[in-house]
Amino acid sequence: MTTDSWLFQQVDLLIQGPLRLLDPFEQAIFRARLEEHWSDVIRPLRHLYGQHPDFETWLVKFLHIIAQNYAHRPHDLRLLDIKRAARPDWFQESRMIGYVCYTDRFADTLTGVRKKIPYLNELGVTYLHLMPLLKPRPRPNDGGYAVADYRQVDPRLGTMDDLSQLAVELRQNGISLCVDLVCNHTAKEHEWAQKALAGDPVYQNYYFMFPDRTLPDQYERTLREIFPESAPGSFTWYPEAERWVWTTFHEYQWDLNYQNPAVFAEMLDIMLFLANQGVEILRLDAVAFMWKRMGTDCENLPEAHYLLQAFRALSRVAAPALLLKAEAIVPPPQLVPYLGQGEATNKECEIAYHNVLMVMLWSALAERKVNLATYALGKMPRIPSGCAWVTYVRCHDDIGWAVTEEDAAAVGLNGFLHRAFLSDFYSGRFPHTFARGATFQFNPKTGDRRISGTLASLAGLEVALEQKDWRAVDLAVRRILLLHSMIFVYGGIPLIYMGDELGLLNDYSYQDDPSRVGDNRWMHRPFMDWERAGERLDWQSVTGRIFQGLVRLVQARKRTSVLHAETAVTPVWTHNEHVLGLLRHGPRGRLLALANFTEHVQTVPRYRLLELGFSGELHNCLNGRLLDAWSDIQLEPYESLWLVHPEQLHSA
Ligand code: GLC
Repeated sequence: MTTDSWLFQQVDLLIQGPLRLLDPFEQAIFRARLEEHWSDVIRPLRHLYGQHPDFETWLVKFLHIIAQNYAHRPHDLRLLDIKRAARPDWFQESRMIGYVCYTDRFADTLTGVRKKIPYLNELGVTYLHLMPLLKPRPRPNDGGYAVADYRQVDPRLGTMDDLSQLAVELRQNGISLCVDLVCNHTAKEHEWAQKALAGDPVYQNYYFMFPDRTLPDQYERTLREIFPESAPGSFTWYPEAERWVWTTFHEYQWDLNYQNPAVFAEMLDIMLFLANQGVEILRLDAVAFMWKRMGTDCENLPEAHYLLQAFRALSRVAAPALLLKAEAIVPPPQLVPYLGQGEATNKECEIAYHNVLMVMLWSALAERKVNLATYALGKMPRIPSGCAWVTYVRCHDDIGWAVTEEDAAAVGLNGFLHRAFLSDFYSGRFPHTFARGATFQFNPKTGDRRISGTLASLAGLEVALEQKDWRAVDLAVRRILLLHSMIFVYGGIPLIYMGDELGLLNDYSYQDDPSRVGDNRWMHRPFMDWERAGERLDWQSVTGRIFQGLVRLVQARKRTSVLHAETAVTPVWTHNEHVLGLLRHGPRGRLLALANFTEHVQTVPRYRLLELGFSGELHNCLNGRLLDAWSDIQLEPYESLWLVHPEQLHSA
């Protein structure tokens, strides 16, 4: 079984079946791709389902699914498949700039988003992540992360046709569409869950259901609580089915049972269906939780990786242009493997969120010191050359202080106290803090307090405007630009979170909405303020300073090809603990970024630059100025510099 001859036989059957209407050349392409990817397909599947009595039948089923979706792939997307194969590093290039928004909060509907494409072009966006938009359960639905139907768009936003049309128009404007696929759980209103609730054993096996607390109690001994305040525990009792159901997140989000190959088959089909609508990047939600094993925390298990590797290898045959993005907010040793390791190098997800960078930036800003960031980022394991980080300052979720005891101790801090300091600082409790945010999900067992708040409010703009303190306003604007400068220079795809380009403040209106009041993450999910956006060209306004400053950063990044993600970034000590140094050294050239994390002027001694190999005059890519060859480097409050040798400019 699963020898070459078996595979040839299967392809012949597929050619008589789902592929029969394709012309012979298209059939040959399918065959060639399947053969090329076969070892990557079969390896993870054997790990996952090799022991299943019907393994071969399931393999045939998976092949059918990819063949069927391949046969239905529209022509423009087949062309895209060819283009991506010709330029596989397209998403690693410095021209990539992401933007993230809720469709309704940004532009009402998908058609509304189409009308805002000129705005995205003005910012320089090449990647648009629309937050969950598939049909959710009625609210509360965790901001759309409780999907009731994966094949329908939320009717409030439009239809699947609207989504496909939007994807086409975005692509014509050089923008790739990213959409969430909530693959770890469905809403309890999903058809599968409803059938399971009604007692259908086939669908009960799509989830984890238990007649009593015996197993749930045993599992819970080692599980982490994700929403300890609003949704404690990981199981929920449903009297109608007389079953406990595994619900890692909220009661209405039921974890899928991937031990059942039928669940894998369903999700594979959905994935390719979305790819065929023109979605270029799937943000795979909560991937760390996709496999469970008693006695573990049921996060980041090897099988969760095999699932992603199998999804990737199979989708490479049917829709090779599709990229997979892992959403795993876990510590670096567990995070990096989502980009593929060992045998799976370059064969898992292509992109993943760099949570640690985000946390370190906020930590440095509060502390006005970069020791922890330099140390922790320096320890990050390397990622495969064909992958990229997704870098961000803010997103729709809270900020959890991913600072380990070890890293803190290495720079003379106490991990627990530092995390407590950061929570105090950003919730606004710390004396003289510039930030205004709120505590999200206090966990009394660990003392953890996560943080909600928009970038602008956390960076000091809200307090400064309220106090009409113009110097403080100026500093807040500089912080906003500094943090963006860091995610732009780090390499990978930087994401601008909707509203941050205008400095939108915390939105407290969620408190009047009964379906949202229990979740203060809505504080940093404001509605787009188009009136404010109207001020974006006015340099005198705060909005204009932020927007124009950001556009300049975007343009600088696009010009600086050395920022290609193939080159790893190395944090370097600058001999000034207030100035972060990031060194990029790769085939395209060398760049040194320096960033002042304080409100005071800072100096980096020239000899340090010489030690790092930066001698002579230097060009600052951010403003085009030349720095002389001898003076120490001066940085204004919160200023950053991207320095290269001038002779490198033709290539940088
Ligand atoms: C992800 C999302 C988060 C959601 C959770 C459950 O972490 O980012 O918003 O609550 O998954 O779907």
